[in-house]
Amino acid sequence: MSVPNNSLFLSVLGITHTVNMLILNKTAGVFFKPSRRKIYAFLGSFHFHPGKLFLHKLVLGIETSCDDTAAAVVDEAGNVLGEAVHSQTEVHLKTGGIIPPVAQQLHRENIQRIVQEALSASEVSPSELSAVATTIKPGLALSLGVGLSFSLQLVDQFKKPFIPIHHMEAHALTIRLTNKVEFPFLVLLISGGHCLLALVRGVSDFLLLGKSLDIAPGDMLDKVARRLSLIKHPECSTMSGGKAIEHLAKQGNRLHFDFQPPMQRAKNCDFSFSGLQHVIDKMIMQKEKEEGIEQGQVLSSAADIAAAVQHTVACHIAKRTHRALLFCKQRGFLHQSNAVLVVSGGVASNLYIRKALEIVTNATQCTLLCPPPRLCTDNGVMIAWNGVERLRAGLGILHNTEGIRYEPKLLGKKLFLYHK
Ligand code: KG4
Ligand code: ZN
Repeated sequence: MSVPNNSLFLSVLGITHTVNMLILNKTAGVFFKPSRRKIYAFLGSFHFHPGKLFLHKLVLGIETSCDDTAAAVVDEAGNVLGEAVHSQTEVHLKTGGIIPPVAQQLHRENIQRIVQEALSASEVSPSELSAVATTIKPGLALSLGVGLSFSLQLVDQFKKPFIPIHHMEAHALTIRLTNKVEFPFLVLLISGGHCLLALVRGVSDFLLLGKSLDIAPGDMLDKVARRLSLIKHPECSTMSGGKAIEHLAKQGNRLHFDFQPPMQRAKNCDFSFSGLQHVIDKMIMQKEKEEGIEQGQVLSSAADIAAAVQHTVACHIAKRTHRALLFCKQRGFLHQSNAVLVVSGGVASNLYIRKALEIVTNATQCTLLCPPPRLCTDNGVMIAWNGVERLRAGLGILHNTEGIRYEPKLLGKKLFLYHK
């Protein structure tokens, strides 16, 4: 991996003389970051020549746990000062899935540029950072390793504290950057590699209530989309499996197929998707026989299957979440009058699934909150924000980088995309 050197950051260091101020826009009632020109004009009116003055602590977040190289600078007040991301999806689509050494190589090729872009966009130099926060678990070992070794060289060079980040903690806390949400709240994380329900009691205080016993819902939707060969469907060729299913489902009739949600009698909050996936696979095989087509061609009933699959997945997720909400409310684990359910992860961008969860939260008098889609999927902002949260709470801030290791634990995520 190429080492960040001083010259790398010269351009960043060259961007100086800015004042990072927050001004309350009374008309809009929101905070915004004014342009540098406006700040100078404002300060100039007081005959004041600014040096650099940051009102808040600044954290650089770095994410390389799977197939996105992402970085962002976020300040203590939750302002995203700069961010950059390089997605590897296009390359992995060609090979039909993530090949870890390829992901590693792409992270290596891009991490320096992505970090530099995030810093440049934020007009912050490495020496002005309060800390560097980086995902160290869970994820693909080879991918995590790139982000970690880059970060450790950076913190050693600039003598900055290092904050190791748990990817799931970062997903769960993102909502506190976009909304005013107090602890405790219930979080549902649903993506290609994640599926869990947890009570979030504090920055690093999570009570796991349920998880998938096999694969994650996004992984299952990707597999079904691949089995349906949706890449060959003209409207779906560039979409992820889950997005393709959502798109086609709008044109289908879910009542043409009857799939049962899994684990209906299980008295816990766990999930399961692989049994359902096998039932769907069998159904697709049967339909191919009926329609007299080969595997690899798109069924005429693909939209109906997509609608039924999406409905069954939505029911399963909603039922397990309902159990968790009732459990938390009965035990007094959530605020009685203002219980909050936070849903995040790539699958949370599915509007049908959101609707199902809305029914559950309405029935239990809870508030449903989702970060905006770009913050639901993997990104550098959530890592930087987790760093801010830990910095404020004084948790897990390391001043000595010796012995820090990444902890992979295979996500089972997107190793095979639906395109092959
Ligand atoms: O959070 P994410 O970008 O990466 C992981 O951490 O996994 O989520 C990607 C997953 C993929 O499995 C993809 O098929 C699924 O999220 N996904 C969707 C939708 N958009 C992406 N699933 C259902 N409906 C969608 N609209
Ligand atoms: Zn993730």
